[in-house]
Amino acid sequence: MGVSNGSTLLAEEGKNKTCADKCSFSDHRQLSHYLSLLCFLLTIITLLLTLCLVQITSLFQSQLAVQKNKLSDVTSRLEKQSQSYRLLFSQYPALNQYCSVSNSTTGERRCSSCPAGWIPKGEKCFLFSQDRADWISSQYRCMTQGGALVRVSTEEEQEFLWSKAQSLSQGDSYWLGLRSSGGQGGWRWSDGSLLEKGPQFWAREPDKSDSRELCGRLTPGDKYVKTWFVSRCSGQVRRICERRKATLQ
Ligand SMILES: *[C@@H]1O[C@H](CO)[C@@H](O)[C@H](O)[C@H]1NC(C)=O
Repeated sequence: MGVSNGSTLLAEEGKNKTCADKCSFSDHRQLSHYLSLLCFLLTIITLLLTLCLVQITSLFQSQLAVQKNKLSDVTSRLEKQSQSYRLLFSQYPALNQYCSVSNSTTGERRCSSCPAGWIPKGEKCFLFSQDRADWISSQYRCMTQGGALVRVSTEEEQEFLWSKAQSLSQGDSYWLGLRSSGGQGGWRWSDGSLLEKGPQFWAREPDKSDSRELCGRLTPGDKYVKTWFVSRCSGQVRRICERRKATLQ
C-alpha cells in the first residue's frame, strides 16, 4: 500500500515537473503578448491625447484671436465716442452747466435738466436761496442765473413750493415774483401777466385801495393755502427763482 502510494506520488511529481516547464514557457509567451498589446494601446492612447491637446490649443488660439479683434474694435469705437464727447463740450460750453463733472478722477459727468443747485419740478427748475435781499435785488440775482422770481401757475406748483419752503426756510420767508404798483395796476407777476388770471393763495386778501408799491412773499405755514403775504418791497428775505428746464429745441 505504502509502495504503491509512493510510486504514484513519484509519477505525479514527474508529470508536475514537465508541466511546470511547459506551463511557465507558455505563460511567458502569453505575458509578453499581453505586454505588447498593452504597449500598443498605451501608444494609441498617447497619440489620441496628443491629438486632442493640439486641437484644444488651436481652438483656444483662434478664440483668443477673435477676442483680441473684438477688444480692439471696442477700444477704437470708445475712442471715437470720447472724441465726439469732448468736441460737444468744447463747442457747447453751456452743457457744462447741465452736465457737471461728478468724478474729477475719471471725468465722469452727470446730466440733469436743471443746473446744479436747482430743483426740477414739472417743466421748471426752482432755486431756494439762503441769502436775503430786497425784492428788486432778488429779481436781479435770479436773472443773473438765467431765471426770474417765481410765478405760481397752478395749485400743484404752490403745494410743491410750500413743502420745499417749509423744509428749507428755517422760519424765513421767500420773495415770489409778485408786485403791485399800487392803484389800478393791480397785482402782477414779474413777467407782466395779471395775477387775477391764476390761482391765489393770500393769507389775507390785499387791500385794493393801498397805493403803495408792494410785493408778495411766501411764508410757509401748516397748510399750502394762505401762505402769501403782502410786504414792503424793501424787506430783506430769501427768494425762490424759477427757470425753464433745459430742452434741445
Ligand atoms: C471716481 O471714480 C473712481 C474710479 O471708478 C472711484 O474709485 C472713486 O471712488 C470715484 N470718486 C468719487 C468721488 O465718486
